[in-house]
Amino acid sequence: MHGQRVVLITGAKGGLGSFVTQAFLAAGDTVAGVSRSISPDDFPNPRFAAMPADLTDLAAARRLAEQVVRRFRRVDALIHVMGGFAGGQPIPETGDDIWERMLSLNLRAAVNTFRAVIPHMRAAGGGRIVAVASRAAVEPAANIAAYAASKAALLSLVRSAALENQDAGITANTILPGTMNTEANRKADPRADASRWVPPEDVAQLAVFLVSDAAAQITGAAIPVYGREA
Ligand SMILES: NC(=O)c1ccc[n+]([C@@H]2O[C@H](COP(=O)([O-])OP(=O)(O)OC[C@H]3O[C@@H](n4cnc5c(N)ncnc54)[C@H](OP(=O)(O)O)[C@@H]3O)[C@@H](O)[C@H]2O)c1
Repeated sequence: MHGQRVVLITGAKGGLGSFVTQAFLAAGDTVAGVSRSISPDDFPNPRFAAMPADLTDLAAARRLAEQVVRRFRRVDALIHVMGGFAGGQPIPETGDDIWERMLSLNLRAAVNTFRAVIPHMRAAGGGRIVAVASRAAVEPAANIAAYAASKAALLSLVRSAALENQDAGITANTILPGTMNTEANRKADPRADASRWVPPEDVAQLAVFLVSDAAAQITGAAIPVYGREA
């Protein structure tokens, strides 16, 4: 697949998503960018379409996929970047609200988006799915159980999608970033050495690679991008 692909990017204006959106626009693709508050002003580019949706709602995810296909005729790639973080407490103190939020943002939204998008890719005879999980999906740390479990579940979901859609020429892969050098992380931990964190640009370039022709044989992979953090 070369430029002029139709790429659906969720979480398109977030700390990582904004770099992912810029990278696909720079590659010449048409980007349908999704988040609850996204607007055309976020990326002034004629190949950018802002498509606001709350992906924790299955009906909204289905409306979104229909809208993309109606407007652009297809979805060549889904880059599922959106997610959320909450942590800081051990398991006994982690309440229902945190479990609900992590499972909803990190698993349910992906389930909804996959249910909405995969049938269109299968009908078109191919597609690429890239999801952003986290290092914590495979290496949980203390006091982030809900986040780590929800990202592990996302990783499992993507592997299932890879297996179920091999016959249809759809690849599905997961990126596992360590802490990234985003504005929010720099603000949250101003004394940390941000230069040790993973540049979001590099994660964006990996997503572009996974959608390229060169990556056509890669599916079911979970790719660590931990940078220089121990
Ligand atoms: N930051 C890190 O160091 C790090 C490390 C490892 C993994 N990750 C993962 O990388 C991904 C991106 O992280 P980030 O730091 O860029 O996050 P972020 O800045 O918080 O961005 C999240 C994006 O998702 C959108 N969003 C949130 N809830 C949504 C919903 N219900 N429906 C649709 N869109 C929604 C947000 O926009 P709206 O508010 O407009 O909806 C925003 O664009 C996440 O999956 C995160 O877990 C991050």
